[in-house]
Amino acid sequence: MPNRVLVAPSLLAANHGDFAAGITAIEAAGLEWVHLDIMDGHFVPNISFGPQVLADLRARTRLFFDTHLMLLHPDKYIEAFARAGAQRITVHVEADHDVARTLARIRELGCAAGIALNPDGDPSAVLPHLHTVDLVLCMTVFPGFGGQAFIPSTVETIRRLGDERTKRGLNYRIEVDGGINPETAALCRAAGADTLVAGTSFFKAADRTALARSLIG
Ligand code: DX5
Ligand code: ZN
Repeated sequence: MPNRVLVAPSLLAANHGDFAAGITAIEAAGLEWVHLDIMDGHFVPNISFGPQVLADLRARTRLFFDTHLMLLHPDKYIEAFARAGAQRITVHVEADHDVARTLARIRELGCAAGIALNPDGDPSAVLPHLHTVDLVLCMTVFPGFGGQAFIPSTVETIRRLGDERTKRGLNYRIEVDGGINPETAALCRAAGADTLVAGTSFFKAADRTALARSLIG
């Protein structure tokens, strides 16, 4: 049975001086997940926020913390994010770590584990890990900044991961991240994506509930 389509707004596009208001906006739109983009200035050329922000927000919300680590050494920080209340931790296959070991440690810490692939990444890099994750994140822009344009060639990667899911009888989620709006969401859903990260399109929408509905399709 296909996974229910979920929208995960990214706090990266919210006011960083008032994340609590961003959380309230997501809840008010009737959504269940928040996407937390963690950047270290090494794996990507930008810095966002750290585990203390998650810990403080954890006390205010029951939203599912979908945590995307854009860190060169994610293995050094997974424990801090798990303790801060992350429920899923997604790490990049391109980062500098023993990927299988990091994924196992994420699960040991009681979190769901995800694997992320850059938009120019070869999908075969994640194939050995598909049976150990419950989410594959296909970057649809180069990670580092919100507000970029969707890269159309990533649709092929989504399709490949969708085919692999069917072939192996697995049910990991396929999450897309970057430049997602109603038009690109439809392309991604048609290719097999079921989890839609939306930063700019969500926080800039005049009617966020309607925007979320149109992403779900
Ligand atoms: C990019 C982040 C994305 C980003 C999406 O590095 O991983 O989650 O915030 O933002 P939009 O939706 O603005 O492209
Ligand atoms: Zn992200």
